[in-house]
Amino acid sequence: MNIVALVGSIRKESYNMQIAKIMQERYKDKMNIKIADIRSLPHFDQDEELDPPSVVKDFKQEILSADGIIIVTPEYNWSISGVLKNALDWASRGKRVFMKKPVMPLGASSGMVGTLRAQTHLRQILSAPGIQANVLSPGGNEVLINFVQQKIEENGQLDEDTLTFLDSVIEKFVDLVKSN
Ligand code: FNR
Repeated sequence: MNIVALVGSIRKESYNMQIAKIMQERYKDKMNIKIADIRSLPHFDQDEELDPPSVVKDFKQEILSADGIIIVTPEYNWSISGVLKNALDWASRGKRVFMKKPVMPLGASSGMVGTLRAQTHLRQILSAPGIQANVLSPGGNEVLINFVQQKIEENGQLDEDTLTFLDSVIEKFVDLVKSN
C-alpha cells in the first residue's frame, strides 16, 4: 500500500513531522509512507494552474499515484497552515488529483483542543468540488493530539495511549483504502 503524507508544518523540530515519521516506522509492515515535500511548492498561481511548474506536476503525480493520503496538520490561528492550504489548492485545479482519494486527517498542537478547529477546516476543504476526497469518517477516528509537547517523549516516541488510539484509526484507514 503506497501512502503519501502531507505535513503542514515545515519547521525543523515540528511535532507534526515527528508524528509522520513515527507513523512511517510504526506502520511500515502495512504501508509505505512517503512524506511529500510541500515546502518546495511555489505559491499557487491561477495563471499557471493548467501548466504548473514541474515541481507541482511531480507533487500532483505523487498524489495521483498514491493509494491513500495521510494529512498531519498543525493548527495555525484556528485553521490549517498556509503551506498546507497552498498544496491543496494546487492539487484542486487542472487535474484534480484528490478526487475519491482515501484521506486520513490527524494533527497535533500545543493547545487544549489539539487541532480540532484546523481539522474541521481541513475536512471542509477536502470536500470542496475541486478536491472531493474520500475522507475517513470522523466518528471515533479523530486523532486530535493536544498538549503535544507533553506527549512526545524524550526518546522521540509518542505516549502509549495516543499510539494505541492511532493504531485503531490506522486499521480503519487501511480498510478504507482497501475498499476504495
Ligand atoms: C500556533 N499554535 C496554535 N495552537 C493551537 O492549538 N491553536 C492555534 O490556533 C494556534 N495558532 C498558531 C499560529 C501560529 C502561526 C503558530 C506558529 C502556532 C501553536 C502550535 O500548536 C504549535 O506551535 C505547534 O507546535 C505547531 O506544530 P508543529 O510545528 O510543532 O508541527
